[in-house]
Amino acid sequence: MKRVISGGGRDSKRARLKQSMRSRKLIEDAYRRNLPEGIARTDSKLEQKHVELELQDTLGDMLPWAYMLLERNMKSLYEGSWGWDEEKKREELVSRRARFVIAYHVQDKSRDPIAFVHYRYVQEAREPVVYVYEIQIDALFQGLGIGRALMTTVENICKERGLDAICLTVFTENEGAMRFYKRLGFEQDCDSPKDRTWKIMCKRMNSS
Ligand SMILES: CC(C)(COP(=O)(O)OP(=O)(O)OC[C@H]1O[C@@H](n2cnc3c(N)ncnc32)[C@H](O)[C@@H]1OP(=O)(O)O)[C@@H](O)C(=O)NCCC(=O)NCCS
Repeated sequence: MKRVISGGGRDSKRARLKQSMRSRKLIEDAYRRNLPEGIARTDSKLEQKHVELELQDTLGDMLPWAYMLLERNMKSLYEGSWGWDEEKKREELVSRRARFVIAYHVQDKSRDPIAFVHYRYVQEAREPVVYVYEIQIDALFQGLGIGRALMTTVENICKERGLDAICLTVFTENEGAMRFYKRLGFEQDCDSPKDRTWKIMCKRMNSS
């Protein structure tokens, strides 16, 4: 999946350097520029269910909600693999590199958060990619198309920024999530480990 650059020599070294510089520039630009209006949107089915999406650079006072949802959905899966580290998870959510798409359920005068994606712009094997750190939907709202809408927004962002792929890590045991990513066109990355409790999945934005 990822472009593999093999061999030594001055030419390939120069090519690798050029690739790294291109990645760094695209990533810096991605963090610097505002995203266009309308990049985060739901379809008519979700509109009927009163679900709205919003881009946010930080969680602000929504941190306790996001952490609680993450813990509720993922803690037991982590405990079966890497272990659950509350401090590390909270730090990830407040990192200045973190970006979010939040889904809200809007009804009468209330507007309640029900799902989020935490993504970042990163360099993976010298390629500029969007890395999805988390996608978490409140259990009451799973299976309604919110996950797809959040990932479509991430894909729109990836394309708008001119980045090469969307990547993420998923626990092998999380069969539902595995099926979800495959349904959305993700494939196991060539660098993904074969014998671990987790896999790296990617969706490329072009055929390069
Ligand atoms: C996995 C998760 C993000 C999926 O989001 P969702 O809103 O429930 O999924 P959607 O309703 O948008 O489904 C999108 C597509 O994926 C498929 N899909 C979703 N969950 C699936 C599952 N458990 N098994 C099989 N297919 C599934 C749907 O059938 C749908 O296909 P379609 O659009 O062609 O009909 C959500 O269930 C969740 O938050 N789970 C708990 C946290 C988690 O595991 N996060 C991933 C960590 S790596």
